[in-house]
Amino acid sequence: MNTIRTVDELGRQLSAARALGRTVGLVPTMGALHAGHLSLIERARHDNDIVVVSVFVNPTQFNNPEDLRTYPRTEEADLKALTEAGVDIAFVPTVEEMYPQKDERVFDLGPVATVMEGAMRPGHFNGVAQIVSKLFAIVKPTRAYFGEKDFQQIAVIRRMAQLEGFDIEIVDCPIKREPDGLAMSSRNVRLTPEQRAIAPAIHRILSESVALCPDTPVDKVKKFVTDAINATEGLEVEYYEIVDAATMQPISEWNETRQAVGCVTVYCGDVRLIDNIKYPARP
Ligand code: PAF
Repeated sequence: MNTIRTVDELGRQLSAARALGRTVGLVPTMGALHAGHLSLIERARHDNDIVVVSVFVNPTQFNNPEDLRTYPRTEEADLKALTEAGVDIAFVPTVEEMYPQKDERVFDLGPVATVMEGAMRPGHFNGVAQIVSKLFAIVKPTRAYFGEKDFQQIAVIRRMAQLEGFDIEIVDCPIKREPDGLAMSSRNVRLTPEQRAIAPAIHRILSESVALCPDTPVDKVKKFVTDAINATEGLEVEYYEIVDAATMQPISEWNETRQAVGCVTVYCGDVRLIDNIKYPARP
């Protein structure tokens, strides 16, 4: 594996590969890699000639300085995992390399970015759009891979790609879960053993709620999920929304959408966990 730390060097390597007609798959990450990331890499390897994985904790998407400070950074282990996963290029830039000057761009991300994470974390999605647009412009991948755990983020990236005219296939990949159902996340390492033991209740309760659709009204399902998670000692729901999978807009009736998705964020102590579940699609 080739570990590259500068934009110029990455550009050089990739234009040589593109000149030979090679397809390039990009997996953007913030490091602290786990099996969820590895599943994106596996998919990217299957679909493309060359796989580039970026490892960069992007400061502009953190609206909470404490969250940025405590975000796990495990570069050595990440590079080992990427080598073992058969990645061709690890792109590991510094903040100065990615942001030689302040990025003042404000993206018109529209309604997909104003609800849920957009409402709770002002500026977060603009920061995601900044870094992903930079990566797309540098790598010019054929395809880019994102995990459905951050379901809303994928909709935002699609919108950014459309705004910026990137001709890149955005591939969404299913959530990877621990055997007990907890969605894999770099933040899980911050859970204490007690918190780790209760966190799987989130997915269990979301899964139970699927059986309530479509006979139980949407607002009652929302209440069921919120109340059941809050009744679990140590968990506190920040929001639970049932939205249309494409527009991210909350629905009030099941028949308003073909595919409804329930998106939740839950505090487990000071660790903010995110998860989602798809309700049965309507024909
Ligand atoms: O999902 C993430 O890890 C980040 O938001 C991303 C897409 C790598 C951008 O920093």
